[in-house]
Amino acid sequence: MDKQAAIQRIAQLRKEINYHRYQYHVLDRQEISDAALDSLKHELQQLEQQFPELVAPDSPTQRVGGEPLKEFKKVRHRQRMLSLNDIFSVEELQEWRDRLMKLLPASTSLEYFCELKMDGLAISLLYRDGALYRAATRGDGQVGEDVTQNIRTIESIPLQLDLSQLKKPPRDIEIRGEVYMARRDFEKHNVRLAKEGKPTYANPRNISAGSVRQLDPSVTAARKLRFMAYDLPTDLGQVTHETVHDILRELGFRAGDQNKRCSSLQEVERYHQEIGKKRKSLDYWSDGIVVTINDINTFTQLGTVGKAPRGAVAYKYPAEQATTVVEDIQVQVGRTGVLTPVAHLRPVQVAGTTVSRATLHNMDEIARLDVRIGDTVVIQKAGDIIPDIVQVLEKMRTGKEKKFTMPKKCPICDSPVERREGEVAYYCTNPRCYALQHEQLRHFVSKKALDIDGLGPKILEQLAAADLVKSPADLFDLTEEDLAPLERFAEKSAENLVQAIDAAKQVTLARFIYALGIRHVGEETAIDLAETFGSIDALMEASTEELAAVPDIGGVVAKSVYDYFHDTQNSALIQNLQKKGLTIKKERSPSRGSGSLTGKKIVVTGTLDSLSRDEAKEKIRAAGGRWVSSVSKNTDYVVVGDSPGSKAEKAQSLGVTVLDEADFLKLIS
Ligand code: IVH
Repeated sequence: MDKQAAIQRIAQLRKEINYHRYQYHVLDRQEISDAALDSLKHELQQLEQQFPELVAPDSPTQRVGGEPLKEFKKVRHRQRMLSLNDIFSVEELQEWRDRLMKLLPASTSLEYFCELKMDGLAISLLYRDGALYRAATRGDGQVGEDVTQNIRTIESIPLQLDLSQLKKPPRDIEIRGEVYMARRDFEKHNVRLAKEGKPTYANPRNISAGSVRQLDPSVTAARKLRFMAYDLPTDLGQVTHETVHDILRELGFRAGDQNKRCSSLQEVERYHQEIGKKRKSLDYWSDGIVVTINDINTFTQLGTVGKAPRGAVAYKYPAEQATTVVEDIQVQVGRTGVLTPVAHLRPVQVAGTTVSRATLHNMDEIARLDVRIGDTVVIQKAGDIIPDIVQVLEKMRTGKEKKFTMPKKCPICDSPVERREGEVAYYCTNPRCYALQHEQLRHFVSKKALDIDGLGPKILEQLAAADLVKSPADLFDLTEEDLAPLERFAEKSAENLVQAIDAAKQVTLARFIYALGIRHVGEETAIDLAETFGSIDALMEASTEELAAVPDIGGVVAKSVYDYFHDTQNSALIQNLQKKGLTIKKERSPSRGSGSLTGKKIVVTGTLDSLSRDEAKEKIRAAGGRWVSSVSKNTDYVVVGDSPGSKAEKAQSLGVTVLDEADFLKLIS
């Protein structure tokens, strides 16, 4: 090809590649395959190699490359890069508005512009004659670092602005926005790091910052970073913040797709709530919304205070993570005798509640985290469950931290503790351990078991202390005369409780099986066992082979059920309960239907708008599905409701299909 032809072909290729880059990285559309696009890039690269004098800085081939730097150059911002003040409640929102109104003529009617606050790294881009020539981090707001080489590798940032909509474009144009990593890319990247045995990133902000501040641009290029534009310090005729976003799009940027103009604080509050519901299912991390006074004149007139503009605030969502100190690690004895280590924490606010305990699950988890007494840790609250410790801040250690060891003796009854073959858990070996009995009782009367009203933990403790109830069977001997002398028992409540216990004697088979508290037998397995065997006698006589033949019941569960019924104490308990009047209701237990979810395992995380948890369970069962509580590779669907927990993220990292409430309802209808 001669040079003249090459010039033409190169121009065509650049235009085409740039078009598809824009479709893909800014608009999320794809018209040609990755392979086809790579092939166009390859042809361009070859032509540029043949005619090096035709290489231009804005050519798509010039995104990757450049030599590693020794250090970043410092650059002074033309206009200070500000930050935002945080608010957390609707009251603070009103206070903000009231403060502004004191500075403005009383007749001013304020209009607000709301957008998502992206959790990434703020970047300023400078374009000269339309071409990107400098990119800088915020730094201290006045002076940042020149990260141009790295920023050029981000495909959603145009190397050349589209100036076609501007009448008289100024020579220099500055754009500001956030570099971030999409949730799915973040998860994938962390999985890869974990596989390579490298430390993972705690949050996407760290990874964005870590990736942009790389001296070697090829490292940045290998990470999939994105850019969302939200500010335009250069005057291109914008009169409102809303028009800023329109102009940014015309220039070729991705700007927020959830933005909203609001004419009242009620509307702002509604927007904040709506985003709060769906932010976990968005593909980027957002920790709040930004509320800006829409009219730019008013915004400018309001000025700044400290490092923040008066005319904008970050209205954040309550943090679901916090740091605190592990003051002690103690063990709790559960109903199956399992000793669970629990971290006692210096109380701290997380997502609106005070947290003073976190479960550590088992010794393996303690070893994995290497958590020690005295450590400063990051805790995370997912949904409304007990928080987890997700990270230990090892650099904060003083040397005085103490490692935790599992006690050799049960802290409640002093019997020996053992670790069973093939299990991570440690057990108290005393079947009559007080804690174990107590937990068994609690389980027996709990909502999903016999569901006895008025038998809360306090009352159970009272009954045990008065030596009235040791085993579930003792409950059925209680009389009003027994209860009346106890504290908190008026005549009426004694009568009510005795009646409630009496009513609970009629129980479905599934609930009864669940109530026994057999290890590994939760609500769903109890239903399967009830359906398969039909009576408690048949279940008690089942062999391990027969048990293992039940769908979804594996060897471990089968053995646990078999062992339970072949323990003389347990069979004595069942006999005793029946002697005292416990009867299995003829009415069938809740059973599994068949339908769109037959054979499928479903996890629901967060709350659903239209169904309670129990209703959702029933619907899933009716459609043939199985409700499971934790996400694994074997989970078929994870349904994500409001304020979901870490399960939503886990599903994404394992590639499990995630459904929102509408998808789920469609599936079961
Ligand atoms: S406006 C006057 N809009 O939040 C300050 N900031 O604490 C201009 N951020 O440094 C910021 N998303 O890194 C704005 N949609 C958004 C944003 C956003 C994220 C970051 C930005 C800024 C920090 C403020």
